[in-house]
Amino acid sequence: MVVRGTGGLIVGLDIGTTKVVALVGAVENGVIEIIGMGKAPSHGLEKGVVVDIGETTESIKRAVEEAENMADVRIERVFAGIAGKHITSINNSGTVSISRENRVITVDDVRRVIETAQAVQLSPDQEIIHVIPRQYIVDGQEGITDPVGMTGTRLEVDVHIVAGSMTAVHNIYRCVSNLGIEIERIVLQPLASSFAVLTEAEKDLGVVLMDIGGGTTDIAIFRRGDIWFSKSLPIAGEQITSDLTVGLQVEYHEAERIKREEGLPRVDDISGEERFEITTISGEKKSVSKRKLMKIMEPRLEELFDLAMGEIEDAGYRDLIPAGIVLTGGTALLKGLPEFVQERYNIAVRRGRTPQGIHGLRDIVESPIYATAIGLLKYALESREIDFRYNKHDRRVPLRGRVGGAAVGAGAGAGEDRWWAANGRRENSIIVKVLRWLNRVFRGTVR
Ligand SMILES: Nc1ncnc2c1ncn2[C@@H]1O[C@H](COP(=O)(O)OP(=O)(O)OP(=O)(O)O)[C@@H](O)[C@H]1O
Ligand SMILES: [Mg+2]
Repeated sequence: MVVRGTGGLIVGLDIGTTKVVALVGAVENGVIEIIGMGKAPSHGLEKGVVVDIGETTESIKRAVEEAENMADVRIERVFAGIAGKHITSINNSGTVSISRENRVITVDDVRRVIETAQAVQLSPDQEIIHVIPRQYIVDGQEGITDPVGMTGTRLEVDVHIVAGSMTAVHNIYRCVSNLGIEIERIVLQPLASSFAVLTEAEKDLGVVLMDIGGGTTDIAIFRRGDIWFSKSLPIAGEQITSDLTVGLQVEYHEAERIKREEGLPRVDDISGEERFEITTISGEKKSVSKRKLMKIMEPRLEELFDLAMGEIEDAGYRDLIPAGIVLTGGTALLKGLPEFVQERYNIAVRRGRTPQGIHGLRDIVESPIYATAIGLLKYALESREIDFRYNKHDRRVPLRGRVGGAAVGAGAGAGEDRWWAANGRRENSIIVKVLRWLNRVFRGTVR
């Protein structure tokens, strides 16, 4: 095997509840060619969260080795996803004044305003994962994406902050570092998936990305091009399968087969009393009506989507998502699901499939199961483009918070991490700590 580092390559590592996927992408002219893929059943996670470090490490190892062999490289750094109900998201804003004489906004001002905006009340066991600037406002003028070089006296920023449990984050770091691999960045899974399947037009208009995997349903809402809301729910495909094991008295793998082959029966199917064959737990062959299957599956799907739509409604976005819902994750493949959601909630629904910019291994690229892993690659690539955008200003903008000992966040690449290491980390951490302390003292208890 030719051993070379992953230098010019990018690696996405999706550590899911049911499977771990490692994808190696080679980038040329802004196009990602997938040159390696490894997949292993996931052991050691429950509802998206690591509960057994040894088992999770072993699953990651298998996926990584397979991808390494296929791509003929040694994986040294990865972009890894994170999800689970420990994730919380908050919208916040920050303001700084520009007091110097020429009033030209600099990269340092942008850094200052981001730092102000990320001073939110978090419970002591939580860490910031992303601080995503949604818009800058210069002297009241809204909708600015890059204020550097403009003149003004007051710079504001609206940000979307994603935080997660320190333990959950550190456990992912532990599993990956056990293999001698560095995490370049931890990325919220539905944010990663959005990079794979959403169009710019959808994100501008208002759209929900719903990744329904095995253990969690992850929601992210986009408007005006950026993420505004995120939430992780602990119901997904595994519960549907479990319901079938009980309702039909079958083993888990038989329930999986039935779910995948039959899907959610439609009203048209059941009117003719259509039936299908199953093997029960006692080994008996039996014919079951599709009406019965529907009666088992529908309540769980209603529960899941009522919960998800409730979250969207409570957050105030129900009327702000004209582009509807884009489904990813394995459960998105459930036959009849988009139609079910569309009819019940009167909203446009489509399955996500990866658009332009990704080549190689077509069946992987087009399946919603791999949206998170592919999205991690696109995230890595596009965040470098943002880095590049800022290069013209001589210095990189460190836009994000910290996780563990490593710089993480959205919208910037590996170079930014090095910048943080050299310039930003200590200052950022002290400022944030002081602001959090002040928050605690003056606003009462921390959540
Ligand atoms: N064709 C199919 N029809 C219905 N369900 C399917 C199909 N293929 C896969 N699934 C379901 O998708 C789920 C796995 O999805 P996915 O691979 O996205 O999960 P994961 O990433 O491992 O988990 P999570 O993201 O929740 O941590 C399983 O419950 C599986 O039964
Ligand atoms: Mg997943």
